Amino acid sequence: MAIDKKFVDQLITVTSKAALASSYLVGKKDKIAADKAAVDSMRSNLNNLDIQGQIVIGEGELDDAPMLYIGEKLGTNKGPEFDIAVDPLEGTNFAANNLPGALSVIAIGEKNSLFNAPETYMEKISARVSEKNVIDLDYTVRQNIFNLSDYLNKRPETLTACILDRPRHKKIIDELIKLKVNLKLITDGDVSGALLVTEENYNVDIFLGIGGGPEGVLAAAALDAYNCNFQGRFLFKTDEDKARAKKMGINDLTKKYELNEIVIGDSIFCATGITSGDLVKGVKILGNEFISETFVTHKSSGFKKVIKIKQNIK
Ligand code: FBP
Repeated sequence: MAIDKKFVDQLITVTSKAALASSYLVGKKDKIAADKAAVDSMRSNLNNLDIQGQIVIGEGELDDAPMLYIGEKLGTNKGPEFDIAVDPLEGTNFAANNLPGALSVIAIGEKNSLFNAPETYMEKISARVSEKNVIDLDYTVRQNIFNLSDYLNKRPETLTACILDRPRHKKIIDELIKLKVNLKLITDGDVSGALLVTEENYNVDIFLGIGGGPEGVLAAAALDAYNCNFQGRFLFKTDEDKARAKKMGINDLTKKYELNEIVIGDSIFCATGITSGDLVKGVKILGNEFISETFVTHKSSGFKKVIKIKQNIK
């Protein structure tokens, strides 16, 4: 069933208010305080909505309260049942150090429609391709680049690949350099990184590499509204990680997930800028009002836009 479009506006309000709350702590070198401000705002504003929501992707599990923990119920307990995935402050370093790219992010789906991702790493790949078998986590970097180059009719040296700048990606980065692909190395924020493939004007053709699993599910919710491909595979290192995954119902620990296995059915995604970045501008305070920009998608209505709004601070 489609999610009512009225929730688009309501969720823009939720992420823009969380972004505002966090923006007061930008550049204060305190990741935890900036995160907590966004979490507290998100919780109280979600609790005002006429929904029966439950967090499936949050900031830890029950013991980690007061974060928005997995299993937490939100809303007035009237209205539709939703799965909720949140990253109230995506890019904690960006906010703490006043760097571009901090976002406040939410995705909702119908009940039991968003993948219940454990807090582990995920190997990811995404590109602006609607066909299968062009990009694939099981292909080599070289094969992915050559396939994409054929598909987009662009030479490899005119393609741009976005990847987190981490030592664990040395082999991939070296291979991309060998292929003369342009790099967009990001220091954090791979929800935004993955979304840069959605529109040609962001100048990114492929996103790949290992980042957070929850961030992978959030990005998938937005990519699902576009003609984009996304695959993810969780990486479980410790026995504890593996046991937790089994408890969450993941039996095949090496499974490669397609987009439609991560997000099933309709969804809404909102990411509001806290600091200005590639995707959206950050919060701007003007007296008693503030301006925010939110990257929004609603799959069933085909709505996908950056929405700029001015609201009262109180
Ligand atoms: P935080 O907002 O929790 O700091 O996460 C930022 C982030 O860069 C994510 O976007 C990304 O998925 C993850 O961290 C990568 O993790 P790591 O820094 O361990 O490589």
